[in-house]
Amino acid sequence: MQVEVVAVDAFASAVADVVEDACRTNQNINVCFTAGRTPDAPYAELVRRRQQLDLSRVFAFTLDEYAGIPKNHPQSCFTSLHMHLYDGVGVGVDRVVTYDDEVPPETAAASYEQKLADMGGLDFSILGIGLNGHVGFNEPGTPFDIRTHVPKLAEATLQRAKREGWSNPPTIGLTLGLGTLLESKQVLMIANGLHKAAIIERIVNGPISEDIPATSFRDHPNCLLLLDEDAASRL
Ligand code: GLP
Repeated sequence: MQVEVVAVDAFASAVADVVEDACRTNQNINVCFTAGRTPDAPYAELVRRRQQLDLSRVFAFTLDEYAGIPKNHPQSCFTSLHMHLYDGVGVGVDRVVTYDDEVPPETAAASYEQKLADMGGLDFSILGIGLNGHVGFNEPGTPFDIRTHVPKLAEATLQRAKREGWSNPPTIGLTLGLGTLLESKQVLMIANGLHKAAIIERIVNGPISEDIPATSFRDHPNCLLLLDEDAASRL
């Protein structure tokens, strides 16, 4: 894992640069997109660049989702990705791949994993980091080789959902597994803000441990951890 630190006001365009480069290709590629607040400004920057940006070869996979809600629920990751990115840059419905909301979560997780495998696995993954070091909904204690599954959400994750204005969030989720994500040919992990500084310090300098799922990417051969100066302030 490489670590790169940029100025706070350069974060959005630095992330957008990496995404733009990775998606400039003549072949179909499978890209996993994180939801959350971290990518808001980078996604807005990608939308701003839509004239020069070519995402026509991208199949866009949702990283994670709350289980038991319709995918067009206002708080779903799918809705957030459409609002902040897909609609603005013109990723068509036929290029978006997500969890089936009409079957039980375990069935949806298994079929999503299978679909991704049938399509050749992930080429590029853009991943946020939770305050507890989770990646997607791979919460602390998750084995590094787990495939796409139906996790019980950690208390910190539920609190975050409540802070986002969701009074009674689902207590289980759907997420691409760490094992699935670690097979991604290229990974971009992103974090900004002072509130992420403590967990970033542990991810970069602490032991590699299931207690902090993001540490599983330290040995990935092509992973960039891109931080703003606030998130990197304890390094
Ligand atoms: C949520 C999302 C994750 C996201 C993480 C960080 O749990 N399901 O995909 O990466 O939180 O969110 P934020 O970027 O808002 O800090």
